[in-house]
Amino acid sequence: MLIRPRRNRVSAGVRGLIRETHLTPQHLVLPLFVQEGDGETPIPSMPGCVRLGINRLVEVARTAYDLGVAAVALFPRLDEALKTPRGEESLNANGLLQRAVKALKAALPGLVVITDVALDPYSSDGHDGLVLRGGIANDETLPLLAEMAVAQARAGADVVAPSDMMDGRVAAIRTALDAAGFINVGICSYCVKYASAFYGPFRDALDSAPRPGEDRPKDKKTYQMDPANVREAMREVALDEAEGADWLMVKPGLPYLDVVRAVREQSALPVAVYHVSGEYAMLKAAAANGWLDYNACLLESLTAFRRAGADLIFTYGAIDAARLLAR
Ligand code: PBG
Repeated sequence: MLIRPRRNRVSAGVRGLIRETHLTPQHLVLPLFVQEGDGETPIPSMPGCVRLGINRLVEVARTAYDLGVAAVALFPRLDEALKTPRGEESLNANGLLQRAVKALKAALPGLVVITDVALDPYSSDGHDGLVLRGGIANDETLPLLAEMAVAQARAGADVVAPSDMMDGRVAAIRTALDAAGFINVGICSYCVKYASAFYGPFRDALDSAPRPGEDRPKDKKTYQMDPANVREAMREVALDEAEGADWLMVKPGLPYLDVVRAVREQSALPVAVYHVSGEYAMLKAAAANGWLDYNACLLESLTAFRRAGADLIFTYGAIDAARLLAR
C-alpha cells in the first residue's frame, strides 16, 4: 500500500500540524439573560444557564472576558407589567437592558456588547414585530426597531443584532443609527433565521413565546424562514448586504451547517452562527443521563461550525469551551 491516510493521524503532534480548522475563545460570543434585582434565577430547560441581575451579569462577563471571550449578547427578561403591544419599554434610557449595557461597558470597556433588536422580550403579544390586523405588520414595525437600536447604541452597545426578520429592517436601523451619529455601531443581522422549534428553552428563559389569542398568529412562520429552504437564504443575504449589514448570522446552528457553508460562499462579510438554546439543552440533557460527554461534544460542535465556514459562534457554552481550550 503506497498511500496510507493514517500516517497523518499518527500522533498528536502530526495531527496538530495538519489541522485544518481552529477554534479559539476569540471566536465565541456568550449570550446572557439579564433580570431585575441582585440575584440569579436558574433556567430549568438550560442547565448551567441562569438569568442574572446586573451585578452578577458583570461578574460573569468578566469571567468570560478573562478567559478570552471578548463578546456578550444580551437578552432582557422583563416584568410582565412592562410588556405592551408596542414594546415602549425598549426605548427607556433607564430600562433594564440599557442599564445592563452601561454597567458592562463601565466595568469592561474592551468587552464587545451586542444587543438584540426585536420586540418579543417587550411585547405583550410575544411577537418580534407589531401585531396589527391579525398579523405581524412589517412596515409599522420598522420605526420601532430603529428607535430601539438607537436607544441601545446610546446606552453604549457596540453592535446591534436585529433578530426579528422584518423586511427592510437593516436599512431602517442603519439609517437611524447614522442619523443619530452612531456610525461605528455595527449591525449583526440575524439574516437567515429559521422558524425553529429549537428556540423553546430560550422562550422559557424570557417568557417570550407567542401568546395564544384569536387576534394574532400562534407562531413566527410568517417572518422566520421555512427550515426547508436554502435558496431563499441567498435572497436574504443579498438584501442584508445591500442594506449595510456588517455581519450575517445563520440560526439555529448544527441542523443548518449546509446553510452556514452556503452563506460563507455567497458573501465576503463575516458569518456568525447561533448554537441555540435547544441545541445546548440537548447536550446537557444527554450528559445528565450519562449518555454523552458534554465537554467533548461541545468542542466538537463548535469546531464543526468553524469547519462549515462560521467566523464567530454564539454559544451558551462559551465559558465552558474557553476553559477547555485553555487546558
Ligand atoms: C427572538 C430571539 C429568539 C432567539 C434569539 N432572539 C427566539 C425566537 O425567535 O423566538 C433564540 C435564541 C436561542 O434559542 O438560543 N428575537
